[in-house]
Amino acid sequence: MIKLRIMQTKQTIAIIGATGNMGSAIAKSIAKGPYRLLLKANNQEKMDALVKDIQSQSPKAEVESVICPTEASWEADIIILAVPYEAEKDIAPQIKEVASQKIVISIANPLNQNYDGLVTAPGTSAAEELQKLLPNSKIVKAFNTTFAADFSAPVINGAQVDAFVAGNDEEALQTVSELVATSGFNPIIAGDLSVSRTLENMQLLLIQLGMKNNYNWLAGWKILHN
Ligand SMILES: NC(=O)c1ccc[n+]([C@@H]2O[C@H](COP(=O)([O-])OP(=O)(O)OC[C@H]3O[C@@H](n4cnc5c(N)ncnc54)[C@H](OP(=O)(O)O)[C@@H]3O)[C@@H](O)[C@H]2O)c1
Repeated sequence: MIKLRIMQTKQTIAIIGATGNMGSAIAKSIAKGPYRLLLKANNQEKMDALVKDIQSQSPKAEVESVICPTEASWEADIIILAVPYEAEKDIAPQIKEVASQKIVISIANPLNQNYDGLVTAPGTSAAEELQKLLPNSKIVKAFNTTFAADFSAPVINGAQVDAFVAGNDEEALQTVSELVATSGFNPIIAGDLSVSRTLENMQLLLIQLGMKNNYNWLAGWKILHN
């Protein structure tokens, strides 16, 4: 009898801004899954420490640091922009060609300096603005309603924290939902990319409530239903 060995190909994920709060939290959590990680950051010392950390937590992880965002995105199936909203405008032209037809995840919350509003105009969102900059990519909003501090244990008061996903491409929504589930959160597909307006405002509200009620940046959304 011939034994067929099914090879599972790993998806390659580039994280731009990998040593930041969110980039490192996402990298550590998804390194446990069937993904190859290409990490891009500006500070090599912080990057070496992050790679070491990931390898000690997940010895089987395939993780490499890459110097250039274009190179990281060229090799990737999925690109995560774990950078401030304003920085997306610098990065988008560098990855535009190589990110064509690929999933690009927007995690940004375009907060103003006082955290009491968003800098985006009414009727748009950071994710939709990114879609304009990368018209041939499949932009998906994800991870913007989860705090970096939630990733080490995405269960608060016994409940698995929900993480909303929004985008216009069905297959991309499924792929990103799997990634979100690997990171430990409960993925909920919220709607098309325009729903990002709501998701970005939801995080603004959570931040404002957190500052008022001292949630210590450990808070998240949970939908209760029957
Ligand atoms: N923190 C949270 O809990 C949280 C939750 C949900 C969503 N978000 C969103 O996640 C994004 C990152 O937030 P964060 O808290 O992780 O910020 P952070 O800790 O300041 O990290 C930002 C990262 O972006 C990199 N970066 C900044 N400007 C860049 C540029 N022009 N080109 C390339 N890389 C650049 C920084 O690299 P260097 O430091 O090496 O320069 C750093 O690694 C933001 O859009 C934020 O709205 C944050």
